[in-house]
Amino acid sequence: MPVMPHDPADTPALAARFIAVRGATERLAAPLAVEDYQLQSMPDCSPPKWHLAHTAWFFETFVLAEYAPDFRPHHPQFNYLFNSYYDAVGDRWPRPARGLLSRPTVAEVYDYRRSVDERTLALITTADEDTLGAIGSVVELGLNHEQQHQELLLTDLKHAFGLNPLRPVYAPPPAAAPPPAAPPGWEVHAPGVRRIGHAGGGFAFDNEGPVHSAYVSGFEIATGPVTNGDFLRFVQDGGYDRPEFWLSDGWAARRRDAWAAPLYWERDPGGWSLFTLRGMRPLDPAEPVCHVSYYEADAYARWTGTRLPTEFEWETAAAGREVGGNFLDAGRLHPAAGDAFYGDVWVWTASPYGAYPGYRSAAGALGEYNGKFMCNQMVLRGGSCATPAGHMRPTYRNFFPPDARWQFSGLRLARDVPA
Ligand SMILES: [Fe+2]
Repeated sequence: MPVMPHDPADTPALAARFIAVRGATERLAAPLAVEDYQLQSMPDCSPPKWHLAHTAWFFETFVLAEYAPDFRPHHPQFNYLFNSYYDAVGDRWPRPARGLLSRPTVAEVYDYRRSVDERTLALITTADEDTLGAIGSVVELGLNHEQQHQELLLTDLKHAFGLNPLRPVYAPPPAAAPPPAAPPGWEVHAPGVRRIGHAGGGFAFDNEGPVHSAYVSGFEIATGPVTNGDFLRFVQDGGYDRPEFWLSDGWAARRRDAWAAPLYWERDPGGWSLFTLRGMRPLDPAEPVCHVSYYEADAYARWTGTRLPTEFEWETAAAGREVGGNFLDAGRLHPAAGDAFYGDVWVWTASPYGAYPGYRSAAGALGEYNGKFMCNQMVLRGGSCATPAGHMRPTYRNFFPPDARWQFSGLRLARDVPA
């Protein structure tokens, strides 16, 4: 895995960060009832218990098994149960059946986490300089992996709760008033050759490099994301019933799954309401629209006569901006009104997820982390209200299949500048 080499002088900081990130995962699970830990609402989603165990497995497999003296697995079958997709590490329990694993129990999974925490901390605080230089970058990868699963834990839980007629509340509504709506506008970017990708300095996933040059034509990008109010007009204009706005695969998905509005929108005699992690609430027209697929985002853009930005356009617009906004750490757990460039909702881009020029997957199991998924998915940028704040960068590339709706995914429009 071509991540940045680790400097052994950073060991105390690495240990502190390990404790903080691992603890943050468990704080996200703290509001759950024991029954909630088992929920798997669809094959794409995993039970909270599985996320907790799998993130421990990652450290056990790629750090402890590789580098800990006298390594013994915590349990001989956990590698089979909690390997996600790493073929080089061995066979695994089928993903759609993760919800069937009532054992190990929740308590046993927390024991597993404690065991992995203690052994990993012991290793990184006592290893010699050579070993530390080797494992530091893998520990850092494991922490970034864990942060990805923090977001998935919430989005998967939201999907399961959203199917429950009781509409369970993960956390009570926030006391803070929502920010004011931002006026719509467009930001102009001149054509030019742009440096795209991660150029070094701090952690990045391998799919963010190599840094390279790309010509980006002149374009305009909206100063804010598309809002619920915007999207409601598309719904009310029959947008979900007009194939002329939809890609062929998108129209097939819309018919197959009977989409009529974004996921978690509910219509009742009083109007539209929304299921959130903080309970049901009336649809707020000023908030960014969320939980739309790439197909819906693309159809909406066509309905407006615009388009989605490419990921290079998005990264061009991101250059020089501070990485801040409504991330997980803000505690809202829902997109907020405003014109923040980062956070709130991941924005679908028009770019298929593929390799940058010169990209090569690393040899070995960790080479499977990103590279083998570079087909049939679209890139999303910018992070969401469920993304840990320290996890975002201008070059970060998220990716999901174009029919995925259960992530905090929305859109920001772009358009061409007349030549
Ligand atoms: Fe994972």
